[in-house]
Order: sequence, then C-alpha cells, then structure tokens
Amino acid sequence: MSWGMKNRLSKTIDPKTGRSVMLAVDHGYFQGPTTGLRNLRKAIDPLLPFANCLYITRGMVRNVVDPGTNVPIFLRVSGGPSILQEDLSDEHITVSMEEALRINAVGVGMSMFVGGKHESRSVANLGELVNEAEAYNMPVLAITAVGKDMVRDSRYIGLACRMAAEQGAHIIKTYYCEGFEEVIEAVNGVPVVIAGGKKIEEKAALEMAFNAIKAGAVGVDMGRNIFQSDNPVGMIKAVNAVVHDGRTVDEAFEIYQKKD
Ligand code: 5RP
Repeated sequence: MSWGMKNRLSKTIDPKTGRSVMLAVDHGYFQGPTTGLRNLRKAIDPLLPFANCLYITRGMVRNVVDPGTNVPIFLRVSGGPSILQEDLSDEHITVSMEEALRINAVGVGMSMFVGGKHESRSVANLGELVNEAEAYNMPVLAITAVGKDMVRDSRYIGLACRMAAEQGAHIIKTYYCEGFEEVIEAVNGVPVVIAGGKKIEEKAALEMAFNAIKAGAVGVDMGRNIFQSDNPVGMIKAVNAVVHDGRTVDEAFEIYQKKD
C-alpha cells in the first residue's frame, strides 16, 4: 500500500487502536430531512470531537462543515433514487474524484446492491470507482446495502461483502448479523465497519457494536443510533468506549447515561 493511501486510511482507522468510529450523516441523500438531521449543523457540531471521521455528502460538507475543522471528511459519492422509489438500487456515481480531492476527502464511499435489480451496475460502479480512486491513493468504502426482501444473515452479508472485497474495496460497511465471524473471514483482511441501522434501544446498539468488534470488525459507521438517541453525545462517547477502549456493554451504557 502506498504512502498516500496509508495516510488517508489512518485518518479513518485510528493507528493507535486499529479501530474507527465513523459518524454517518449522509442519510439525506435518499431520505431527505431524516429525523435528527433536519438541521445538520446543529446535529453534528457537538458530535464531531468524538468521531474519527464524518461520512457525509459534498453538498452538506460545503453548507454545514467549517473548513477549519480537524474532522476528516469521508465523502459519499453515489446517489440516484429517493425513498419514493420501490427499487433503491438504481444508483450512479454522482461525484467526481477531482471533487473529492478538492474537498480534501480521506475516502469515498458508495452503495452496492447485491440482490437488487441493478446489482450488476452497482458492482461495476464499485470496480470503476476503485480504478479511479487508486490513481490518487483514495480509499474506497463499499456499503453493502440490503434490499427489502433480503435476509440479513451471514450467507447473504458474506456474499455481498466478499463481492466488495473482490472488487478491491479498501473498507467495507455492512450490517451486523449472527455468525459475523464468517463475514469477517470471507473478506480476507479488508477492514469491516458496521452500520447501526434503524434506531434501537441504546443498550442493544452498544451490544451490537461490542459483538461486531468481538467478531473482528474494526468499528462502526453509525448514524441513527447516535443522532436519534435522547443523548447523542453520551451515545457517541459510549460507542467510542466499546470500539476504542475495549469497554463492556454495561460500562459503555453508563457512559451513555451521563449527561454533562
Ligand atoms: C445509508 C448509509 C448510512 O450512512 C448508513 O446506513 C449508516 O447509518 P445508520 O447507522 O443510520 O444505518 O450508508 O445508505
């Protein structure tokens, strides 16, 4: 791996712990003003000191993130259909590599839809994005989006993650499932982070992060379970405690409960 690629990856995965808490706030790219993110600046400002990087779209970077920030920007570069569409898999690459470089992004991310109507194109999009990104030492995050009819088990998640790894993704974001060790084994060393998914009880979300780390994930790219919590700052601190500090679920839950 070249110096630039290693340097960019180190802005996402903390070299001290080998782990990452990515804060995902890109949901508006297909969901519009998602609960908790209507006023994006207000939502993220208190959370930024506790995130290894911010996973966000270029439009929102320009509008709400202070260019003087120390938080690295990981840019979503795919999009297309909104939640009004039956089929969400009809995505395209919407942001150029030059734009990612202009923004000084430490990585670019896109969704791939294994099992979706446009599966083949999304896999090709990933391969092409990796081709382009590697010319600039830009890491690519592949997000294994799950279709409505797909069962989130290790067989399906393992298939999607392995396909992402085969295309050359540098990091893979997926959903936690039973038998997650098999998913980790299937990607043969590509770092894996989990998405949080829909809002669940804080303790259950911390337990999911804990189990993912135990199974070999390097961290989370979590959104709703942080910014939709009744204590978002407490929750992101608690997630950090699990991911970076090896704390138990109970210890992390106590951290979440503290309100400064
Ligand atoms: C949407 C995404 C989100 O970034 C991802 O789902 C993480 O957020 P959450 O923890 O809310 O699921 O990629 O496609």
